[in-house]
Amino acid sequence: MGAPLSDRPRLPLRPLGRTGLAVTPIGFGAFKIGRNEGAKYPDRYDLPSDLESAAVLHGVLDLGIRLIDTAPAYGLSEARIGAALKARRDAFVLSTKVGERFEDGRSHFDFSEDGARRSIDRSIGLLGGPPDMLLVHSDGRDVEILREGGAVRAVLAARDEGLVRAVGFSGKTPEGARVAMEWADVLMVAFSARDRSHETVIEEARARGVGILVKKGLDSGHLPADEAIRFCLGNASVDALVIGGLSLAHLAANVDAALEVRPPQGASAARGR
Ligand SMILES: NC(=O)c1ccc[n+]([C@@H]2O[C@H](COP(=O)([O-])OP(=O)(O)OC[C@H]3O[C@@H](n4cnc5c(N)ncnc54)[C@H](OP(=O)(O)O)[C@@H]3O)[C@@H](O)[C@H]2O)c1
Repeated sequence: MGAPLSDRPRLPLRPLGRTGLAVTPIGFGAFKIGRNEGAKYPDRYDLPSDLESAAVLHGVLDLGIRLIDTAPAYGLSEARIGAALKARRDAFVLSTKVGERFEDGRSHFDFSEDGARRSIDRSIGLLGGPPDMLLVHSDGRDVEILREGGAVRAVLAARDEGLVRAVGFSGKTPEGARVAMEWADVLMVAFSARDRSHETVIEEARARGVGILVKKGLDSGHLPADEAIRFCLGNASVDALVIGGLSLAHLAANVDAALEVRPPQGASAARGR
């Protein structure tokens, strides 16, 4: 893992669009600490124990990563984050989602306003307090979910009540991202050298002050990490790349790779907005 933690250069913080939140360019995607069924990773893996998950989560913060992304769809993930990181809650920005929940070995979807409210309450209970961000977690029917509007109303109400700082949409299509940017503070989109379908829409969103979080930047582990990190963070529209995993050695290498990426041309001007 290279230099001891205390000697390592720290990841910088940068504003996440207009949210008022500041995040590191690398975030941690907390899927694998909570679920190992129905995943798209190249290799199977055992679900870690509570203790192993806690070690990963503390390792993530010790590496200077200041963004953790979870969801009710990630099985035990929210409960494990709540239990392990209670005492360090001020040290990171936390996002969770509404719409999909993984229970008894399968996903359950509910994009109604009441369902989303219940989901938010459940997440707050498991996390030991409110997250900073709530994203509507699409099942792929992006535009339909957005047009129905129930889950969107619930997350906006949570923001308006002051429960969370920012709300947004984690979808699958550029069309969905384009509809969501009308109200979203943040968009979470897949973006990599293998999938550039959101390239134009993230530029449009960025120009409107919407924060951009990238998921699947490594194509779930199918792309070489250092190249994928350079590709994502080399794009001036991207605020942070959320990378999943269980290996602290990989995460440390990812932090090192992120530290090598020069801020893209125009990024500081755009970020200074
Ligand atoms: N709809 C949604 O909202 C949605 C959908 C998908 C993902 N997400 C979010 O985005 C996060 C990331 O997506 P993802 O987990 O699907 O894919 P990803 O970040 O593209 O890839 C993660 C995979 O890459 C491997 N990896 C990480 N660093 C590596 C390195 N340096 N060398 C070799 N392998 C490396 C990890 O394995 P190791 O365990 O071996 O490190 C893991 O299997 C998720 O955890 C989740 O938070 C959201």
